[in-house]
Amino acid sequence: MSALVVDALTVAFGRFTALDAVSLAVDQGEVRAVIGPNGAGKTTLLDVISGITKPVSGRVMLDDSIDLTKCSEAEIARAGVRRKFQKPSVFPALTVRENIEMGCGPALKARARVARVAAVLDEISLAPRAAVQAGALAHGEKQWLEIGMVLAAEPALLLLDEPVAGLSDAETAQTAALIRDLRRPDRAILVIEHDMAFVEAIADRVTVLHEGRTLYEGSMQGARGDARVIEVFLGR
Ligand SMILES: Nc1ncnc2c1ncn2[C@@H]1O[C@H](COP(=O)(O)OP(=O)(O)OP(=O)(O)O)[C@@H](O)[C@H]1O
Ligand SMILES: [Mg+2]
Repeated sequence: MSALVVDALTVAFGRFTALDAVSLAVDQGEVRAVIGPNGAGKTTLLDVISGITKPVSGRVMLDDSIDLTKCSEAEIARAGVRRKFQKPSVFPALTVRENIEMGCGPALKARARVARVAAVLDEISLAPRAAVQAGALAHGEKQWLEIGMVLAAEPALLLLDEPVAGLSDAETAQTAALIRDLRRPDRAILVIEHDMAFVEAIADRVTVLHEGRTLYEGSMQGARGDARVIEVFLGR
């Protein structure tokens, strides 16, 4: 079963076509990376999935049941789609634990909340830092906390926009290990990233976008051997 099916999605900004009949399907449990040159349409794709941008045509089906292009941003979040934006937006004056509590949402009962926060702290390896103010964290730790805040909502589809931008090599390797550990049969993860070594470490498959079209879909190894992908992107 597909967690996400993007079907002939076309997005225009005025007369400019940012996405031109893009289709892709992400399986349940899959980690998919979307890669491609600047301006390819990667962020625009995430903007449509999360309801910020509406397409000219096409559909975005979640779990083969809901067309997200017909939903508001709030409805999309309620359906279990969560996004980590590129710039960390943690609450600096709150502790790590309190930030994750914010991510749980108001509906969760107190005891369940405590258990969920503990589980998330564990997943992002920040349990020893739970009482630290988020503003005092290193940049990499802030990125992991932000991932923790979206994990706290138990998303069915997790969208990550450049999660290792600005991180050191060691932090990038740690983030790759973290994302591999997040893989669960009931959770699909879609990652935009420019760091190809990182992509190779985490992604089951990659989708290469170029000028609003899908150039390639398959393994990262296959992408490295694809003449068109090399020409427009990897060879540069
Ligand atoms: N709101 C907008 N209005 C007009 N043009 C836009 C808008 N948003 C994006 N674009 C254009 O659409 C194209 C795709 O942009 P997008 O941000 O999706 O690319 P990207 O693949 O995320 O690039 P990058 O790797 O640089 O982040 C670009 O040419 C961009 O200038
Ligand atoms: Mg972008």
